[in-house]
Amino acid sequence: MKVAIFDSGVGGLTVLYSAMKRMPYNEYIYYADLDNVPYGNKDKEMVNRLTLRAVEQIYDLGVNAIVLACNTATSISADLLRYKYDIPIVGMEPAVKPAVINSLGKRVLVLATELTLKESKLRNLINRLEATDKVDLLPMSELVDFAEKMVFDGDRVRTLLDQKFSNMNLSDYKTIVLGCTHFIYYKKIIEQYFNYTIDVIDGNQGTVNHLEKILQGIGKENNSRYKKKSVQYYISGKIAKLSVFEGYMKYLEILDT
Ligand code: DGL
Repeated sequence: MKVAIFDSGVGGLTVLYSAMKRMPYNEYIYYADLDNVPYGNKDKEMVNRLTLRAVEQIYDLGVNAIVLACNTATSISADLLRYKYDIPIVGMEPAVKPAVINSLGKRVLVLATELTLKESKLRNLINRLEATDKVDLLPMSELVDFAEKMVFDGDRVRTLLDQKFSNMNLSDYKTIVLGCTHFIYYKKIIEQYFNYTIDVIDGNQGTVNHLEKILQGIGKENNSRYKKKSVQYYISGKIAKLSVFEGYMKYLEILDT
């Protein structure tokens, strides 16, 4: 199967990494809209336009499924894209449901981009779970910028976490939800920051599980024929070299050990 994974930037590589680990036999396309990253502080219409354009280019590559490995693009454009295209469009969903279940009466904190936090998709999810009085939202777009610049730890990251969490009563919280794929690079640092007293969860595994089921459903090829673990990278419509992203994939391997 040929699967495309799309993000504004390098956040979706975290989904690519998990998908390749689970389904190494697929052929992957990774499309990063680096000319336009970040999406999270743009207006809705602009993000919709950029996402539609990227998906149009990806679709023309003849893929079996497209993963919107971007919570922001999913919030804005997933429904429209599913209506428009005849192939599965898999989106991200912030792991609020497992977080609420996990938190046993304590509070849940969702970290995401400004736009994801503003959008009705997340609000509706929280309403459906009847969890409006248990969930707090905190924008953290600065981490998108850090990830794009490969700033994964050090003083700048710790200072940001200090600033962001300084006004909060942290003992109220049991679970933090990473509602942006760029934030996965900071999962360990955030866990460490809270001395492992708060669980930090994300939607990546859920998305990969969902993708696997969908591909099994399409199942027109014998997966065992494809044992090649290939990825073709694209940056805003143009073929890109692996070397642009190699450092990220290596870092994800280190985080995974
Ligand atoms: N990685 C994306 C997300 O999950 C987008 C970040 C951005 O471009 O602002 O929201």
